[in-house]
Amino acid sequence: MQGENRWRLGVLGSGKGSNFVAIARAIEDGTLPAEVGLVISDVEGAGILQHARERGIPARFIAPGSFRTKLDPQAEAASIAALKEARIDLVVLAGFMRILKGDFLKAFDGRVVNIHPSLLPSFPGLEAWKQALDYGVKVTGCTVHLVDQGVDTGPILAQRAVPVLEGDTTASLHQRIQEAERTLYPETLARWARGESGLRIPPQSTHPAS
Ligand code: GRF
Repeated sequence: MQGENRWRLGVLGSGKGSNFVAIARAIEDGTLPAEVGLVISDVEGAGILQHARERGIPARFIAPGSFRTKLDPQAEAASIAALKEARIDLVVLAGFMRILKGDFLKAFDGRVVNIHPSLLPSFPGLEAWKQALDYGVKVTGCTVHLVDQGVDTGPILAQRAVPVLEGDTTASLHQRIQEAERTLYPETLARWARGESGLRIPPQSTHPAS
């Protein structure tokens, strides 16, 4: 998207929504030139939906179906339709605990972004902070990346290092990583939106400027 247009973000999350709140605050304080057009969760009582509603942002629970790690075809189709109807430019995964593949990625080709709580390609998959602690690394962090067909494998947009400290528990390390996420994610989106990052894959506008 070029010029004065503001990206319309569609945020997908399954959890408490701290990354969503950080993004919403960056929009509110003017540092991220975007707006959130829709929040979707696969978890009915997820905090992220509550945070969106408190801000007057459309928020929808879409039942994921019977699979544990992905959306069933109806849920995927419903999600694509809702995001298209909301004229979403960029899909922002913020703690969305299901793998998106095939039709979803085709519908938003190169326009799905995720944050992962490790320095990829180290520790993809679940509980990356625990994987880091168990392995014994001294530095871990978080990664903002484009989503492709793999699990946590898409092109890396930005990373931030986080030290592993003596005596860290999974909880303390996870919290330190999440603090880094809450600055890295909005900053990365803002640099991308402003065209300052040199990123080679700009999202394409799906709707004209209003
Ligand atoms: C974050 O740690 C993110 O890295 C992971 O899920 C968590 C989401 O937390 N993918 P929140 O819902 O944004 O608070």
